Amino acid sequence: MNAQPQRTPVSKLSIPHKHLLSIEALSREDINTILDLSEYYVVQNRRKSQTNALLKGLVLVNLFLENSTRTRLSFEMAAKRLGADVINMTVEGSSIKKGESFIDTLKTLNAMRPDLFVIRAGEEGSAEKASNILECPVLNAGDGTREHPTQALLDALTLRRHFGRLEGLNVAICGDILHSRVAHSNLHLFKKMGVNVKCVGPTELMPLAAGGTQDMKAGLSGADAIMVLRIQKERMQKALSLTEVQYFKTFGLTAERLAFAKEGAVILHPGPMNRDVEIDAEIADDPKRSLITTQVEMGVAVRMACLDLLTRSAR
Ligand code: NCD
Repeated sequence: MNAQPQRTPVSKLSIPHKHLLSIEALSREDINTILDLSEYYVVQNRRKSQTNALLKGLVLVNLFLENSTRTRLSFEMAAKRLGADVINMTVEGSSIKKGESFIDTLKTLNAMRPDLFVIRAGEEGSAEKASNILECPVLNAGDGTREHPTQALLDALTLRRHFGRLEGLNVAICGDILHSRVAHSNLHLFKKMGVNVKCVGPTELMPLAAGGTQDMKAGLSGADAIMVLRIQKERMQKALSLTEVQYFKTFGLTAERLAFAKEGAVILHPGPMNRDVEIDAEIADDPKRSLITTQVEMGVAVRMACLDLLTRSAR
């Protein structure tokens, strides 16, 4: 009989990082630690009384310089469930609109001594820049096309809970990989965790290094899970050569194409979703195949785990 793996008690879990800037900087062990603690918060969040006072008295600043529904709310929800106060800031309401530089904005915020800082920005490396100025832990909520670490962690938690493991799974990432920080973070995570990845989509949306295919049948065959991505028009230098209708015809995930994958294969999408462009509206809602709303639920737990771990040394 196999010995049960020794689980570290949640109070003893730690990661050797001050900030969460990228998946690239995390080890396999760090990722497992975050996922293990997230499991604990999934349970807490499903209870009637969902909050605790772990971060009571701490203030989290949520600076979003790009639009967001899921990620911004999820960080806010996570912080509040841990008892922290949250200040939300958007570019529209900030002095960036009056011409203040990004760096001066960060220096101003640092002078107010927040306890945690979450940032989403359109420029690659923004979170790293913030971590050089802010004295508190900085969490990257998406920096341009580069990384979106908490999204990859919540995707991993969703997959690990569904399949009971990550190692050896076959995942197809489908769509606009070139402009997707979600794909980039996931590619790092999957490599570290022993997940086999195939990239599939139009060549013009495929990074050279991804070694992907344009052939949906080849790309999806054998997949346990398919991660579908939105066409990120706002990041494109030149317009896509396909119309949305043509894209759906060739690359949209439909029931027929889903059948190329393994029987019972599941669907992930980070949102926001454009129905009948990258994914057929009906299969996106199929409760037997779609884990899209589970991803959103896991997002809150993952962010609670990250906020908890990054404040452990200061508490
Ligand atoms: C993604 C993002 O902003 O990178 N969404 C998210 O955070 N859940 C994906 C996207 O915008 O397509």
